[in-house]
Amino acid sequence: MIVMATSNGDVGICQATEALKQGKTAVDAVEIGIREVELNRKDRSVGIHGYPNILGVAELDALIMDGRTRNVGAVGAIKGYDHPISVARGVMEKLIHVFLVAEGAERFASEMGHAKSTYEDPEMRDIYEKYIREKLDIDDPNTLHDSTELWKLSHLAVDPQKAGGTTNFIARDGNGDICVGVSTSGWGWKYPGRLGDSPVISAGGYADNRYGAAACTGTGELCIRAGTARSLVTYLKTGMTLVEATTEATKDLNELTAQRIGGVNVIAMGADGSHYSGNTGEAKGRHIFMTPEMDAPETVEGVAVPYEGS
Ligand code: GLY
Repeated sequence: MIVMATSNGDVGICQATEALKQGKTAVDAVEIGIREVELNRKDRSVGIHGYPNILGVAELDALIMDGRTRNVGAVGAIKGYDHPISVARGVMEKLIHVFLVAEGAERFASEMGHAKSTYEDPEMRDIYEKYIREKLDIDDPNTLHDSTELWKLSHLAVDPQKAGGTTNFIARDGNGDICVGVSTSGWGWKYPGRLGDSPVISAGGYADNRYGAAACTGTGELCIRAGTARSLVTYLKTGMTLVEATTEATKDLNELTAQRIGGVNVIAMGADGSHYSGNTGEAKGRHIFMTPEMDAPETVEGVAVPYEGS
């Protein structure tokens, strides 16, 4: 039994590991761990307190995939709910569909009994309004709602916590079943409706008990273009080691030369619970992991595959 996560999963990895210890499934553990990150108000890259889109509205993305069945649920651009990961799990377990976005995802969340969030975030409102006023020289950010030229502002989108934003969890339970989960508020100041890789099945996360699982943080556009999580698991299927597969998937990201606006961190688990990570920058891949025998999570560094273009 083991749980691995991105560094910001430190607020939930103990609860996720304890769930495994109590006999809960990998799917339970991933949901439990991610729910803690979604409530961590200090993390501005996950949850309803994350950086909003260019209109000042937080749009959240999440995905959960069960490696035993390869069943999956995802929600994109959902507004007003504290736990997109739980809504995604509902999609996986209650629908014949696998992916809902925007109003449809919100309607489904309500039908499943999730309460609308009551969280108020005046601090983020101030950050947003200050940013818009300073960057765009606009007195009243509300006027942006009527703009027909928001597309011209898409270059303002930023990864709020560099490749350390967004949360990834991968768990392997006592039955050897693997689950991956991802949750994010996405890039700050993004174009409304923009989806990153996080809810995109095969890009932001993928799990298959037979070979392993992978998940990404960072520049979602790159992971979507490279199909990173699924590629990494396919590399494992071809017989590559976990280190080789992670390195190869990271290299694939670096062969994308156009439209590079940031880097990517990839975390990966083998079918046996081995774990590794890769990064497209100068810094090494990084993740945390914990087993029921451990008192606290440990941080592990993986491979750096620095992008050599400009
Ligand atoms: N990887 C998160 C995003 O691009 O939104």
